[in-house]
Amino acid sequence: MILVTGVNGQLGYDVVKELNRRNIECLGIDREELDIADGNAIRKYISELKPECVIHCAAYTAVDRAEDEEEVCAKVNVYGTENIAKACKEADSKMIYISTDYVFDGKGDTPFEVDGKIEPHSVYGKTKYEGELKVKEILDRYFIIRISWVFGINGNNFIKTMLRLGKEKESLNVVCDQIGSPTYTFDLAPLLCDMAISEKYGVYHATNEGFCSWAEFAAEIMKKADLGCNINPIPTSEYPAKAERPLNSRLSKKSITDNGFNLLPSWEDALERYLKEINK
Ligand SMILES: NC(=O)c1ccc[n+]([C@@H]2O[C@H](COP(=O)([O-])OP(=O)(O)OC[C@H]3O[C@@H](n4cnc5c(N)ncnc54)[C@H](OP(=O)(O)O)[C@@H]3O)[C@@H](O)[C@H]2O)c1
Repeated sequence: MILVTGVNGQLGYDVVKELNRRNIECLGIDREELDIADGNAIRKYISELKPECVIHCAAYTAVDRAEDEEEVCAKVNVYGTENIAKACKEADSKMIYISTDYVFDGKGDTPFEVDGKIEPHSVYGKTKYEGELKVKEILDRYFIIRISWVFGINGNNFIKTMLRLGKEKESLNVVCDQIGSPTYTFDLAPLLCDMAISEKYGVYHATNEGFCSWAEFAAEIMKKADLGCNINPIPTSEYPAKAERPLNSRLSKKSITDNGFNLLPSWEDALERYLKEINK
């Protein structure tokens, strides 16, 4: 039995679908079933269920709002994660914790390795890293998977925003100096399931293959969706946001291949399949 948190979010939704596809017994939960900030409830729930693995996809993900809500954000990303890790320890369950490229400082232009220097520049990044530390402190049998620029069927994301704006506007300004890799939850889910049934514990980076800027990503969305909207590349300095975004979000996927797992397809391929999926 595998327990998946955040089933109403982008990633949790696809993880449960993938587990069902593989006929692996699983249970997806979200806030209505269980608030992960409630330590007692979490421990009771997991000790009764005794899952082999908990794939922890629930998180506070409102990156800009987090700058004004550090406590609320930490309650979910740090203490919620700690609650789950402690419960996993007691129930002898493995845990997969999903983290982020925001744990890095975004400097340089080479991909960050899994053991690269940690220096988050946002409240969200800081809390996600503190969540990583809790997992490492409490458990031996854990996976920490850092991902970036997530898109899935179930939830809002950059692609959905671009499609909406692309239909309304003739041109759009999009930042061109933040470079990273989109991650399609449908492609990530099989990797997480492969990990859940393995003993290859550790820290990983997982995204679709290839790097691009947000402006390049947007231009490809317009092209593949046949929208005439023109993308004007602008620097981050012209698009102020409450939380600082890393300029370099490139993540090295060496740990995936070193451990015999499969790399995800290219981001362009993922985008093409995603657009077909949401048009069904
Ligand atoms: N989205 C990205 O671009 C991105 C990038 C890098 C890493 N990540 C990480 O990837 C993972 C999955 O992200 P996602 O995009 O799938 O997130 P998402 O769509 O925002 O889903 C997160 C889910 O967690 C639930 N949740 C929040 N607080 C909770 C609580 N106290 N108790 C129980 N459930 C709670 C949310 O429920 P409510 O809607 O009720 O709050 C939501 O269903 C997260 O760990 C995130 O930090 C995401």
